[in-house]
Amino acid sequence: MKTIAIISQKGGAGKTTIAIHLAVAAEQRGMNTAIFDLDPQASAASWSDKRNNPSPAVVSAQAARLPSLLEQAAAQAADLVIIDSAPNADAASLAAARAADLILIPCRPSAFDLNAIGTTLNLAAVAGKVAFVLLNAVPPQGKVGEEARQALAAGGVAVAEPVLHQLVAFSHAVNDGRSAQEFDPKSKAAAEIDTLFRWVVKHANVIPRMRANTKTRKQA
Ligand SMILES: Nc1ncnc2c1ncn2[C@@H]1O[C@H](COP(=O)(O)OP(=O)(O)OP(=O)(O)O)[C@@H](O)[C@H]1O
Ligand SMILES: [Mg+2]
Repeated sequence: MKTIAIISQKGGAGKTTIAIHLAVAAEQRGMNTAIFDLDPQASAASWSDKRNNPSPAVVSAQAARLPSLLEQAAAQAADLVIIDSAPNADAASLAAARAADLILIPCRPSAFDLNAIGTTLNLAAVAGKVAFVLLNAVPPQGKVGEEARQALAAGGVAVAEPVLHQLVAFSHAVNDGRSAQEFDPKSKAAAEIDTLFRWVVKHANVIPRMRANTKTRKQA
């Protein structure tokens, strides 16, 4: 089982959006996936409540229970746990970072967001885990995303190669408990998540597997 923590002190950076979309991508590849929602706002859990599908499982959790919940998930043959966290850099985010095989730090390519990223990077460093900034909600036109990448790289920050652009599908699809890939599998948003998921697989050593019965059903 692999664990990915999505943390950022800045509110609205895209933590929940990314957690949900990566979890659906993993489920679509036959992986038993759970989201642990550490945020008292419970956005991921509310998304799950609206959803007509028990997968991925979304568990509202408190940081103190993370170790035992992760043990339970492993005992129940989970392949992947994605931890969605609250917008802060407190003990809960540190617990999430410590539990992770890979940390993703979503960041919008704006000066305010980029300036605030140091605290979250420090937290990942304290946890001693591999962390990448993931540029999110990048304007589809112009060079803002590339400039943000260069600025971060110049400061020695590891930035994930894939970026997610500002696309209506990411916010629209979740309104009724779906994800962009489910709403429109051929959308640009779906393609971006596919690219991101492949990157995550590589960097967290996740092993995707297809459920045998899914294949059989498709062939029938
Ligand atoms: N790539 C994107 N394209 C379009 N809208 C986006 C994108 N990423 C996030 N959003 C929208 O931005 C808002 C904030 O995103 P989200 O809730 O995922 O951030 P968050 O980091 O989880 O916020 P919080 O810190 O409050 O938990 C939401 O309305 C979401 O739909
Ligand atoms: Mg959130």
